Amino acid sequence: MTSQTRLGKIPHLCSSKSTSFYSSSKVYQNRMTAAALIAHTDFSDLQLVKRGKVRDVYAAGDEHLLIVATDRISAFDCILPTPIKHKGAVLAQLSRFWFERLKHITPNHLVTTKLDEMPEMLQSHKDKLRNRSMLVKRTEVFPFECVVRGYLAGSGWKDYLRTGEVCGHRLPSGLCESDELPEPLFTPATKAAEGHDINISEVEMSAFVGVEATNHLREVSLRLYREARQHARTRGIIIADTKFEFGRDAEGQIILVDEALTPDSSRFWSANDYRTGISPPSFDKQFVRDYLETIDWNKQPPAPPLPPEVAEATTERYLEAHRLLTGTELED
Ligand SMILES: Nc1ncnc2c1ncn2[C@@H]1O[C@H](COP(=O)(O)OP(=O)(O)O)[C@@H](O)[C@H]1O
Ligand SMILES: [Mg+2]
Repeated sequence: MTSQTRLGKIPHLCSSKSTSFYSSSKVYQNRMTAAALIAHTDFSDLQLVKRGKVRDVYAAGDEHLLIVATDRISAFDCILPTPIKHKGAVLAQLSRFWFERLKHITPNHLVTTKLDEMPEMLQSHKDKLRNRSMLVKRTEVFPFECVVRGYLAGSGWKDYLRTGEVCGHRLPSGLCESDELPEPLFTPATKAAEGHDINISEVEMSAFVGVEATNHLREVSLRLYREARQHARTRGIIIADTKFEFGRDAEGQIILVDEALTPDSSRFWSANDYRTGISPPSFDKQFVRDYLETIDWNKQPPAPPLPPEVAEATTERYLEAHRLLTGTELED
């Protein structure tokens, strides 16, 4: 995603209220030493389909893909040299939680996260795959980010200030930054291979995939968002916006793919820190962004390393997001 549409990209203020997770950090301290940090995988016997900013994707036969969530973290569009312990496991297990919880709304690509159920060709890598990997149905992905916005934030806020609209949707006047929108908005963008994603209208989207698929993608995206944010709200997290990807499986069915409702694909705010008229701190990347704003770095690669205390505080935040949303401890 880009400056126009990227979620969770605006630098945030430091919060003084977000201390609840420290009380449970003892449990995590033990785990901090146990799990391996994986910033990069290189399984030379497998075909690498894509190395994303965070996830490495391998072919697993003709019908399946293996998606490995690493511990890489990016900020200001740069991958940082310091990995974040447990981050990959959090991303994989949160996605699994949402796929399971939302499967009555739409089928999804998840086949299994259990190593024993994965193909033989993956078994020799199982130490590295454990708790951070998904075997999924391979699909033809629609080249769109199905963005849903529930709050006036990021590029949507900038759009509104300039035009009174967000991606072509006219809104009431007098809204403040971070206000909840009267209704969640579906604001799709093209998935650019390189560089900036571009917001597109539903008419433009229909020209690619047809009216029926466009209506389906909008309705399903809005339902997924509404149901997820309602759950998150009861757990102290506001999902300000998020993006979904969909693909067509071998039977021609449209299914939810990629990751779902993770901190990397969404803008999470702590309900405790939420106020309008400001950009509330990012639930997960607040310490990273605050730190990077204090040092002399021009936001161009290479990004500087993070001090251990910033990396550890960020780990705690990812663990907290997982614990709050799922109500369970991370498997790691
Ligand atoms: N079920 C699937 N079938 C085919 N491609 C998929 C599927 N699920 C995810 N993908 C693709 O895998 C890639 C995941 O890489 P990711 O780490 O998200 O990269 P990026 O940095 O582009 O976000 C994306 O290109 C996504 O479209
Ligand atoms: Mg992605």
